[in-house]
Amino acid sequence: MNTISLSKSDAARVKTDVVVIGVVKLDGGVTLPAGTESLNAAYDGKLAEVLADLGASGKSGEVTKVAGPRTGKSATVIAVGLGAAPDGALKTEDLRTAAGIGVRAARATQSVALALPTPDADCVRAVAEGALIGRYSFTTYKSEASTDAPGAITVLTELTRSKEAKAALDRAQVVAEAVHQTRDWVNMPPSDLHPAEFAAHVVKLGKEHGVKVEVLDEKALAKGGYGGILGVGQGSANPPRLIRLSYTPKKPVAHLSFVGKGITFDSGGLSLKTANGMVSMKADMAGAAAVVGATVAIARLGLPVQVTTYAAMAENMPSGSASRPSDVLTMYGGKTVEVLNTDAEGRLVLGDALVRASEDRPDLIVDVATLTGACVVALGSKVAGAFANNDAARDRVVDAAGAAGESMWPLPIPPEMLDKLRSHSKIADLANITGEAWGGALAAAAFLGEFVPEDIDWAHLDIAGPAFNEGAAAGYTPNGGTGYAVRTLVELAASTT
Ligand code: BES
Ligand code: MN
Ligand code: ZN
Repeated sequence: MNTISLSKSDAARVKTDVVVIGVVKLDGGVTLPAGTESLNAAYDGKLAEVLADLGASGKSGEVTKVAGPRTGKSATVIAVGLGAAPDGALKTEDLRTAAGIGVRAARATQSVALALPTPDADCVRAVAEGALIGRYSFTTYKSEASTDAPGAITVLTELTRSKEAKAALDRAQVVAEAVHQTRDWVNMPPSDLHPAEFAAHVVKLGKEHGVKVEVLDEKALAKGGYGGILGVGQGSANPPRLIRLSYTPKKPVAHLSFVGKGITFDSGGLSLKTANGMVSMKADMAGAAAVVGATVAIARLGLPVQVTTYAAMAENMPSGSASRPSDVLTMYGGKTVEVLNTDAEGRLVLGDALVRASEDRPDLIVDVATLTGACVVALGSKVAGAFANNDAARDRVVDAAGAAGESMWPLPIPPEMLDKLRSHSKIADLANITGEAWGGALAAAAFLGEFVPEDIDWAHLDIAGPAFNEGAAAGYTPNGGTGYAVRTLVELAASTT
């Protein structure tokens, strides 16, 4: 990954290929935020005018390039629209986005100095995070070896001596590495990330960072009675896995549990998806990748919170050994489920994992899953749905997402959904679908709720939309895997006291 550091250097003199600054709208023109005074002076006080002449309006996402100052040592100045007022109304998310846009506008080999407003450590973190996670590319499968050495990133700030700012930089680096790791796993072709291989990756990462990892293979799963995970995995030549990670600090103030959906490829099974519906289904393990990434980041940061994480991994394939619509599975813990649609598989692997996670008696369980297309219909492709068994638990997670800069919106779990799941099976405790098209994300959440005892706080994040960006890169989000939920989970742990 790119190296990053803080520096007090003057934006007009810093030795770098590119200097990134912000531009803000001002009635009838544009103006430059604090921290750009000397740079402006190097353009005889006319930098805002020069940018305006080149078409800069200050709106978010806009990029304007000018040659670096004649008196300085930078080749190019990249001005990024901040889309906000210069009066401190700037949100950390605006800075994260601007930093991401700035580094993407520079070439990968170029060193970049960011002269964005950093009045406090939170802003330093946002700028560093945006730059680091904005500068991502997945080149493993490109035949032409990339000769691009990643360029250095420098955050220009007055706060170089501040402990908080240094901690902010550390956190940004650790979180960015977790986001990159999560994206790499999501972007890998599913033939190279079968459950056993995914598990091996997690074991290796856990070893590197002192996180304990246990792996249940198909034999251990059968012995333990994990009927949901086995039922989904039985159609594939590549057997399923359940991974458990644990991080226990010296004096934990709380115990969080994360559970991730890890379907390494979702063909739908015998309830086969359409050709188009299958295309991005290598990303159906994004929840598992995110919970693992976040857990390792929390451990590396030494946050005083115990974390136990489960990643339920299986490949959902049609074959002679696959589950049939109308098969009944006995889940871990004993509940029976009639599988009326084999494409509603995420809830089956998660049901097992949630029962197992509950046995640890954590203070809060958060599951993360690319669970339903219905959630994408409801909230679009950028916003995750947040469900919970109580409002306080849901607010905790939604607030953490807000602080971390990830979009999330609360959705309900109406009791009628559970009634429908129960009555839709004539022979088992539950069916895995309601049999109705409406409210699919809510029905899935209701199903999961049946696998968590009422006295444990539980939240469910449906990340089917934001986990994978099918479109072009924007802000700090590249095409492909996004690493969504890593930042929210780290923030949740960091804000737990
Ligand atoms: N992995 C899919 C959900 C999904 C869809 C994620 C689109 C990302 C983008 C999930 O396993 C699934 O197939 N859900 C079904 C449920 C239905 C059969 C009740 C769906 O959403 O259609
Ligand atoms: Mn499916
Ligand atoms: Zn799925």
